[in-house]
Amino acid sequence: MKLEDFVKGKANLAGLIGNPVSHTFSPYIFNTLSKIFGCGLVYLPFGIDDPKRLGIVVKALKELSIVGFNVTIPYKQQIIGYIDGIDEEAESIGAVNTVTLIDGRFYGTNTDITGFIKAFHKQTGCGFGGKTVAVLGAGGASRAIVQAIAGEGAGKINIINRTYDKACEIEKQVNQRYGDIAEAFGLSSGIAPEIISSGDIIVNTTPLGMHGFEDISPLPDGVSLRKGMIVYDTVYRPLKTALLNDAESAGCITAGGVGMLVYQAVAAFELWTGIKAASDDIAGGIMEALINELGRS
Ligand code: ATR
Repeated sequence: MKLEDFVKGKANLAGLIGNPVSHTFSPYIFNTLSKIFGCGLVYLPFGIDDPKRLGIVVKALKELSIVGFNVTIPYKQQIIGYIDGIDEEAESIGAVNTVTLIDGRFYGTNTDITGFIKAFHKQTGCGFGGKTVAVLGAGGASRAIVQAIAGEGAGKINIINRTYDKACEIEKQVNQRYGDIAEAFGLSSGIAPEIISSGDIIVNTTPLGMHGFEDISPLPDGVSLRKGMIVYDTVYRPLKTALLNDAESAGCITAGGVGMLVYQAVAAFELWTGIKAASDDIAGGIMEALINELGRS
């Protein structure tokens, strides 16, 4: 964007709310997209450390006619109480990561769903049709991903979580919508290793492996990884987690969460600007730049 556009007030505000927001890559992604397309979008992170201020901030963003904003931890659920509408998928997941201002009203969606699917296809070259998938974890990310995989026609989705009851909640919700496709297991149940080992795809949605939990694999003891299995880790920092290292050594097809990070942002950018940005050149280029950056840090 040119200096002249700022001076003439042509800049459109977008942003991110959450806590913390200091280490986010989202401003880099959106401001790069804005520069490529010359659409005048300026994306800023807004940290909200006191949850009681969420309502005031949302009101202020509306007053400022922000084109839209992303929502990250810990406000993906809470934000629903402060916006004017929500689409069916975000409602069934119970989490919103993207809010768009349309005719003065805030609408919530969840671009983690399309973001994950697009990233998975691009990064692995594979799809989910008829496949048996093990999803590790049962938090917000798992909810979106299980829903996404069910929508892609997976044969079976096994949800494996430390807290069994949380996996059961997702099982119930997904089966209500898609038929008898999901099944919950406790991480420490004796059958979990066999369930994971016998599937085609493993997706990690837990924080195990990320900065602070480095060198910890989310897999329970006794899982055997096979050549040709696909292992996707939603963790992107570090680029290569303990899980991805083990999977690579076993000859699996592997991919890390940097793709999901980029494609969920691209989907939000498309919602706010109407500009299609998911091409290999653009989204792929941003992904490469992030991989270089993460490789250095
Ligand atoms: P997000 O919204 O990013 O998915 P979350 O809601 O905090 O994050 O979910 C994190 C998931 O990782 C949860 O399923 C959590 O298990 P519990 O439901 O038992 O809390 C899982 N998780 C976090 N730390 C873990 C650990 N040390 N071992 C196993 N699972 C863990």
